[in-house]
Amino acid sequence: MTDKVTINTIKDMKSGDPIVMVTAYDYPTALYSDRAGAHIILVGDSLAQTVLGYDTTVPVTMEEMLHHTRAAGRGCSRPLLVADMPFGSYQTSPQQAYDNAARFLKESPAHSVKLEGGVTMAETIRFLTTRSIPVMGHIGLMPQSVHQMGGYKIQGKGDEGLRTLLDDARAVEDAGAYSIVLEGIPKAAALKVTEELSIPTIGIGAGPHCDGQVLVLNDMLGLYDQFTPKFVKRYAELGQEMQRAITDFAKEVTEGTFPGEEHSYD
Ligand code: KIV
Repeated sequence: MTDKVTINTIKDMKSGDPIVMVTAYDYPTALYSDRAGAHIILVGDSLAQTVLGYDTTVPVTMEEMLHHTRAAGRGCSRPLLVADMPFGSYQTSPQQAYDNAARFLKESPAHSVKLEGGVTMAETIRFLTTRSIPVMGHIGLMPQSVHQMGGYKIQGKGDEGLRTLLDDARAVEDAGAYSIVLEGIPKAAALKVTEELSIPTIGIGAGPHCDGQVLVLNDMLGLYDQFTPKFVKRYAELGQEMQRAITDFAKEVTEGTFPGEEHSYD
């Protein structure tokens, strides 16, 4: 695929190839994700933990998210660039959400925002989507609610859990979202939601039946080892490779073998 990915491309993928989404937080991670063929690059608020070293996603600010979205945007040509709205930037009122979402569209190259919440955020999602701001929803395990949940807990379990999940999913779709992230739910529940909705579902820890999959880049590349959830597959060990390279450099500097002739000017 060579054309720029838009929200229409993503909507059409409901009945086509699986959607490939990764998080990226800066120029190189976005560039390599683009070259690898990702359809969507999400500047996730997970950068709070994976890049900024916070314990949760709660502390990251609008200014920090804008800074990283601009950097990722410089490496992102073809994929759809989605900016994650940080905790506290959209929950107060639809107007607050609009003001901050509009900042992402005006002050960064993002073409869409993502926000967490189902029924309770439907009015806000409608406010944005009816005023030209494309929204990706996010339901199930919502990391910004970690303190409310008392930890990271799998959602959508049992009949009651499934009912809540389906209500949330329908509310997000009805409010005009063009796609929805399903996080941390049983695979059977993800299948039900995926069958029920006409917009694509993108899963993380939601099993194989979604219309697409997303992973946090630093998790899949082995660049974040504080905590690795069961659903993460490690496709590389770049953290170890980085440490090996820096150790080799330190050794050669200490021994006086770097720089050699080939790295020196006459
Ligand atoms: O912030 C993030 O990385 C996310 C993904 C887990 C979807 O929201």
